[in-house]
Amino acid sequence: MEGYYIPVGVESIEPELFPDVALYLRSGKNYVLYKSHGRNFSKQDAVRLIANNIDFLYVSPADMEIITSYLEENAERLLNDDSFDGRTKGKIIYQTSINFVGDLFQNPKKVGDLNRSKRLMENLLSYLSRDRDALSSLETVMTHNYHTFVHSLQVTALSVLLHSEAYNLAHDEMVDVGIGTLLHDFGKIFTPQKILNKVGKLTEEEISIIKRHPEDGYQYLKENTRLNDISLAIVRDHHERINGKGYPRALKKAEISRSAQASGLCNVYCTLTIDRSGGKALPPYLAIHLMRQEMQDAFDERLIKILEGITCSEEPQQQLIL
Ligand SMILES: [Fe+2]
Repeated sequence: MEGYYIPVGVESIEPELFPDVALYLRSGKNYVLYKSHGRNFSKQDAVRLIANNIDFLYVSPADMEIITSYLEENAERLLNDDSFDGRTKGKIIYQTSINFVGDLFQNPKKVGDLNRSKRLMENLLSYLSRDRDALSSLETVMTHNYHTFVHSLQVTALSVLLHSEAYNLAHDEMVDVGIGTLLHDFGKIFTPQKILNKVGKLTEEEISIIKRHPEDGYQYLKENTRLNDISLAIVRDHHERINGKGYPRALKKAEISRSAQASGLCNVYCTLTIDRSGGKALPPYLAIHLMRQEMQDAFDERLIKILEGITCSEEPQQQLIL
């Protein structure tokens, strides 16, 4: 695919282990070479960048495979190592997640939102680290399909921010929302890899298999963990739509919990704006436009407005050419 630079958190670059790839700085819509192949990234580099408030460097599409397999192996190696406790594992997931939440707030004016989202995620993951059920469920998702894991982190980073703007949630409820959103696609562990990774159009049969994941995830987590109703509702209902056209139960507005609605909205937004394989990623304002116009009455307008405020800024209206 073309033109997709992967953000990597400066703090997560380990000088001795990081693969030898060129690293770029982002300047508006352009990428400026920071370090070429063959030059080491030193600890001093990291200190200097952080002192200049630069949290992310970028890897070019040419090195995408090297960097994703590095991030994947690294997280998997560390999470599967029993000598680490839950707290350390929570930190590892946090590091992995901030490498990807940068995608959500690409506009430099949105750096405040990025930082708030990072703080909320850090907080959430420190709680997750004390919850063995939630932590090991998330590890299961990661081991089954890394793309689902990354997607879940992104949806969560956005959803906790949306919740903090839309509702006045008590701290405990925010943690439940975060855990439910992290595990919203848990049921995909029962979906065959070849369907999850398929490039191109899915058959009707394959679509119906994928559509089982909300109910499968809900049933499994309800029987095997102590996740509460707030978290479980997100798992089961994140594909429900307020106009009754969602699945698995075709619920209507008041029947869908507010957190399932908000997480469902963020789920669609992330799918539209961050598509790594098909090259179809839309800019934020187009994704919002599409959700308003083409998925009419599927989402609560108040939530869309808040999401728009979080993700878009001053994009000229005349760019709305569809
Ligand atoms: Fe889903």
